[in-house]
Amino acid sequence: MSIALAQCWISDLEGVSWFVRPATCAEEDQQFLTLMCYLSAFPMRHCRMSGCDAELVARLPQIAPWRSGWGRPGDIALLAVDTMTRRRLGAIWCRLFSSPDDFVPGFYASDIPIIALAVEVHARRRGIGQSLLSTLKQIASQRGYSALSLSVSTNSPARRLYERNSFIAQDIQSHPDPTSMSVTL
Ligand SMILES: CC(C)(COP(=O)(O)OP(=O)(O)OC[C@H]1O[C@@H](n2cnc3c(N)ncnc32)[C@H](O)[C@@H]1OP(=O)(O)O)[C@@H](O)C(=O)NCCC(=O)NCCS
Repeated sequence: MSIALAQCWISDLEGVSWFVRPATCAEEDQQFLTLMCYLSAFPMRHCRMSGCDAELVARLPQIAPWRSGWGRPGDIALLAVDTMTRRRLGAIWCRLFSSPDDFVPGFYASDIPIIALAVEVHARRRGIGQSLLSTLKQIASQRGYSALSLSVSTNSPARRLYERNSFIAQDIQSHPDPTSMSVTL
């Protein structure tokens, strides 16, 4: 697994501080990533899950393309962690797909990683999503990727976050999925 990223971002706002670190292959990190995948795929659902549930969730058709064989070349995952409690607060991850996947919208090209992002409900609107996104963009650029893509529904408030970070919707004629956005690095 390619996790040797010497990348760390520490922020502090309204008394909450966190840092961003690479996800490791430890079970707790991997289970948290599965939970975040679920929140990202189903943004309106709020869930807590045990390790057993995480295994079931990882098999859902919307989640499995992200989670199966995690650690292959191109996979990057970062976690935001509370500085005081060490609780994981959010995650961002990206993966290369060789072709469009019915359950992973946002595909542009096989050399453009698709990203997804989620933050625990209680930790939102503090800047954690922004710090994860900025750090991932930086790392992806250092790794030589020319762009990142994602899918976010057209009425999602999360879209504002992406627009602020220079993601633009693809030309509708060449790429007729209005939920797809990309950013040049
Ligand atoms: C999208 C998400 C990761 C943002 O994380 P976050 O830590 O709250 O993000 P930040 O605090 O850095 O930035 C907040 C910005 O996100 C946007 N945003 C995201 N969700 C929002 C919501 N429910 N209401 C209002 N703004 C929202 C806004 O642009 C907001 O900026 P603003 O407060 O200046 O308007 C988080 O809301 C989340 O996990 N949502 C559910 C999963 C999801 O939708 N993932 C994206 C799918 S691609």
